[in-house]
Amino acid sequence: RKMITTMDLQKMKREKEKIAMVTAYDYPSARLAEEGGADIVFVGDSLGMVVLGYDSTIPVTLDDMIHHTKAAARGARNSFILTDMPFLTYHGTVDGTLRNAARVMQEAGSKAIKMEGGAEIAEHLQACVRAGIPVMGHIGLTPQAVHQFGGYKVQGKSAEQAQRLLADARALEQAGAFAIVLEMVPEELATLITEQIQIPTIGIGAGRYTDGQVLVYHDLLQYASPIKPKFVKAYAELGAAAMNGISAYVEEVKGSKFPSEEHVFHMNAEIIQQLAD
Ligand code: KIV
Ligand code: NA
Repeated sequence: RKMITTMDLQKMKREKEKIAMVTAYDYPSARLAEEGGADIVFVGDSLGMVVLGYDSTIPVTLDDMIHHTKAAARGARNSFILTDMPFLTYHGTVDGTLRNAARVMQEAGSKAIKMEGGAEIAEHLQACVRAGIPVMGHIGLTPQAVHQFGGYKVQGKSAEQAQRLLADARALEQAGAFAIVLEMVPEELATLITEQIQIPTIGIGAGRYTDGQVLVYHDLLQYASPIKPKFVKAYAELGAAAMNGISAYVEEVKGSKFPSEEHVFHMNAEIIQQLAD
């Protein structure tokens, strides 16, 4: 299958072909994401929560993102790999942002990066785009700012908040973003934003009418993910399957049922005799 480009994504919006994006954080998850046909394999900083066990994405470092992206890139060699810029790696000087973005592109092998925030980060986003790095925006609920929001809550319900999000979407498009994630916003607002900008919108908890959807791997496959927000649909029960497998293994070891004959190596009878002599 041919690798998707940012150009293809613009075309998909124009032709109303939905974009399917999924997170992946290592070799096996990225391999399955690619084989499952995802258009974008996304190394999100949600890895801090679902694979590193932190209770927010704030502790995730640039080195963590690079480490996981390298593994994911080896698993999905033919995919458009997108990597999240983690907490406070694109908020200092524009030079600092460019240096951090360069590391993700050069060391990790990403095809693009994603940044949370609206008009206030547009300058940083634009600098990366001007340097040839495709950047995806992310507005609505931006989890790196969870402590400012006071929790994981729907954003943009008031007219004032909705106007601000619409203005942020326009600012990111102006700055050169190739797409924008809309997270936890009312369907009506996501639809309005989708209609008002030319670049694709990728929704998560943003209703049915965005140009694409994204879900976290561990949520959509129910793989030991601690929470199940309203916007998640479970397409498999990996956690339950893994748990059943492990408890069956433990039970068979304790009951001396594993290993059985089929798993065992044997020696030549003559050698056994020699050893016994
Ligand atoms: O890190 C992540 O998984 C994300 C998606 C929820 C958009 O940013
Ligand atoms: Na993220």
